[in-house]
Amino acid sequence: MDRYRPRYHFTAPHNWMNDPNGPFQLNGEYHLFYQHNPSKPEWGDIHWGHAVSLDLVNWTHLSPALAPSYELGESHCFSGCAVVNGDEVALFYTSIGEGDRNPTHGAEQWMAKGTDMRTWHKPDINPVLTSDLHGGLQIKDWRDPYVWKEQDGWRMILGGTFEEKGCAMIYHSDELENWSFKGLLHQGDEGIWECPHLFRFDDRVVLFYSPSSQVRYISGKISGDRLTDIQKHGTVDHGGWDGFYASTGFVDEQGRRVLLGWVPEGNRGEDFPAELNWAGALALPRIVDLKPNGVLSMVPVPELAELRGENSSFNDIRVGQLSTGLHSTSFECLLEIDPRTLENNTLTLSIFASACGQEHTDIHLDAASNAITIDRTHSSLYPNVHKSPVKGELPSADGAELIKLRIFADQSIIEVFVNDETCLTARVYPSLEDSNGIELRSSSGEVIVSNMQVWEMKAADIRA
Ligand code: FRU
Repeated sequence: MDRYRPRYHFTAPHNWMNDPNGPFQLNGEYHLFYQHNPSKPEWGDIHWGHAVSLDLVNWTHLSPALAPSYELGESHCFSGCAVVNGDEVALFYTSIGEGDRNPTHGAEQWMAKGTDMRTWHKPDINPVLTSDLHGGLQIKDWRDPYVWKEQDGWRMILGGTFEEKGCAMIYHSDELENWSFKGLLHQGDEGIWECPHLFRFDDRVVLFYSPSSQVRYISGKISGDRLTDIQKHGTVDHGGWDGFYASTGFVDEQGRRVLLGWVPEGNRGEDFPAELNWAGALALPRIVDLKPNGVLSMVPVPELAELRGENSSFNDIRVGQLSTGLHSTSFECLLEIDPRTLENNTLTLSIFASACGQEHTDIHLDAASNAITIDRTHSSLYPNVHKSPVKGELPSADGAELIKLRIFADQSIIEVFVNDETCLTARVYPSLEDSNGIELRSSSGEVIVSNMQVWEMKAADIRA
């Protein structure tokens, strides 16, 4: 068995995956598409992989939904979205081409349609948007359509850069085929914005984008095709290229807003000693909500609890040090900590620690600097594996409210949720056979962990 392949995080059947694309649910069935190279575990020849699920946990792989139309000069089907429109589903994506077909910027927006949810055809009307739509505006890196419905018609946003700064452009259509450009929805200070998408919460919206670093969000309103009344700029997950990138989202048939993100593989580094025939995974699907103060809350889908296996539970632990006795590499851990006892202390959770002490990945909670860090310094004895820290801020402790920490470890993925608000995802590649489990210790004195539960996680059923 490949020890690094996640067991309950989605991975492609083989070879490369990056961004999740076009998720939707129809008649109970969830559909996931993703950027996929079907012939190599590295980026290239980008197709849309396709899988279906009834619970967002167990998946069945289907054949790729979209392949490049090489005969039309198309070389990649880049990221995009899906729109359920009656009995028909339309996929929108960025077609990357070469040569005469698209001499201007190499990117056009195309659509594909399907009615049986298994086969997809690209109608002759393609391309549906070309870059000359912007009049004289020089938009670069124009890609990754996201479409949603408003009362008076369809909207699309696309990512890109304008005058060297990342932005999202907005477009209108009455019937999904003819689109008109309405300007810049919003522009940031960073470089390129990839994969913009948004969720509506009544009259408020949250806009997400991936600016080649951590996925960011902005909560506000849309009026006159501009993002206005901005309440909050936030980080979706501190992992960025080390763990979480290129998110997208959809509203499922229960009305839940589900956020999906790509867990990249680049952290294996140069000369990784194992030949792996897969690369990339999907972060656990998260249900997101918007708090009155504009901050996003994120909770992994409750369906994941079906994978919980053997449980160990500890109450009112005053650490010192606690060995949980767990020797698994796929588990969930839930902790509730009294924040007052963190005051002169750092609490450390050591994950995937070897008996010899040489390998361990440490999650530090440091109230003094208000930080939570996944410290990967000793995560692997392999020299070239990436070991930079993944760091976020601890949500402010509110009086005696307990800090709730949920940690999901899955072979080479560590995904952490603090108070359903701060998320950190990181890749780790331990080399020693007995690097497993989770232990607890505090730097000095005692930290009160009111409740700690650990579940071994069963493998999700992800099959062809
Ligand atoms: C983000 C991204 C998208 C693009 C896709 C190509 O990871 O660069 O902007 O559509 O990946 O695979």
